[in-house]
Parts: sequence; C-alpha cells; structure tokens
Amino acid sequence: MIRITNLKKSYKYGDNRVEVLKKVNLEIKDNEFVTLTGPSGSGKTTLLSLVAGLDLPDEGSIIVDGIELTELDENSRALWRRKSIGYVPQFFFLIPYLTAVENVELMARLAKIKDSKSKAMECLELVGLKDKGNKFPHELSGGEIQRVAIARAIVHDPPLIIADEPTAFLDSENKRNIVDILERIWKEGKTVLLATHDQFLARHRIVKILDGKIEE
Ligand SMILES: Nc1ncnc2c1ncn2[C@@H]1O[C@H](COP(=O)(O)OP(=O)(O)OP(=O)(O)O)[C@@H](O)[C@H]1O
Ligand SMILES: [Mg+2]
Repeated sequence: MIRITNLKKSYKYGDNRVEVLKKVNLEIKDNEFVTLTGPSGSGKTTLLSLVAGLDLPDEGSIIVDGIELTELDENSRALWRRKSIGYVPQFFFLIPYLTAVENVELMARLAKIKDSKSKAMECLELVGLKDKGNKFPHELSGGEIQRVAIARAIVHDPPLIIADEPTAFLDSENKRNIVDILERIWKEGKTVLLATHDQFLARHRIVKILDGKIEE
C-alpha cells in the first residue's frame, strides 16, 4: 500500500534549515493498522502530510497504491487525495458555518459520490452521531467534533485512512469510542495509519520516529 524510501524533509527556520525527516524508510502493507509514535516535534504530522500528498519532500520517494506522489503536481495530488485518502487532521477543521452532516456531505460531493446526503448520514450513524447531524460545530463537544472528522474521512470510502492524534484532549470513554471506530474500519479491509502520543492507542504495528528516522 505504502512504500517510503529515503525520505527527507526540512523546514526553513530563520536563516537555518531544520531537518525533520532525515532518512525515513517505511513499508506498509494493505490492511495493516500502523501506529506512529514519537516525541512532540519528532515529525509525525510532517510524515503523515507527505503520505497524504499535502506536501512534498526534499528528497526520496513515496509510493501509495502504485502512485509516486512526488511526480504529481499540486492539482493532481488534490484530485488523487479526494478518492484515495481519508485524512483526519490533528487540529480538526470542520467548516464552522456548515452543520455536521453538511461537513461530511461536502467531502462526499467533492469525491462525486452519488446520494451524498444519505451517505453522509450513514457515516454519522457509524460514528454514533445519528441525532447530531443538524448541529453546527460550536454546538458539538470535542469528542463529537473528532467523530464528525472521522465520518468525513471515510464518507468517500477511501482504501487508506490517516488520522493525526485523533484522541488528543479526549477522556477515556471517548478514546475508547474513537479506537473502536478506527478498528472497525480496519476490520472492513482498510489500511489505517495513525499518529499518537497515547499509549492506549498504540497497538497493532507500532512504528517510532526518533531523530528523523524510523525505529520499529
Ligand atoms: N510548516 C512548517 N514550517 C516550519 N517548521 C515546521 C513546519 N511544520 C513543522 N515544523 C517543525 O517541524 C518539526 C516537526 O513537526 P511535526 O508537526 O511534524 O511534529 P509532531 O511529531 O507531529 O509533533 P506533535 O506530537 O507535537 O504533534 C517541529 O520542530 C516543527 O516546529
Ligand atoms: Mg503532530
């Protein structure tokens, strides 16, 4: 599913460059559940955003489902992302003036899914929010917003779900909920790649980023 070879990524910081990913190699098979751990600032979000085609590396190769992402321009990567990836960002970006169901439906429409509204409702039901579809983000709790973000990530039925700290700020019951949902998606045959600090979530195959490299 994913093959990452000799990946390097640095950011400009004033006059300097900070090397975040120094030489990352990682292979993830179809239908694996992989947890990415590592200290704050170690590059988890950086790596996930590269795998999701949101950014490009300085060097190296990222092949997802046979597509070399570094060879696609920004536009092609956006189109590719719409059908291939479900992304749950670290800081959830629901659109504040759309209701929960409209937030989910928007993604379905972008992916040109038929019956986008009923599909969106189906996904909200799956994350236990059947009755909250008409609420706006400011009327939802943190855990509910995170579940809407997951519903939005799966509405177009992508083979790969990438979730960045999906349980940050949640209590243990809500964490349990999110883990159950992700494991259910995984058991349906999807590949799940998840970044977390949380020991409770670190399960299945655990991969660690340390000093810009991967340790298993
Ligand atoms: N757009 C950016 N411009 C400059 N520096 C950045 C940028 N994004 C990230 N960084 C730096 O890269 C490093 C890795 O950041 P990243 O967000 O990938 O870490 P992380 O492992 O996800 O951390 P956390 O666990 O706190 O979410 C940090 O030192 C950060 O300051
Ligand atoms: Mg992060």
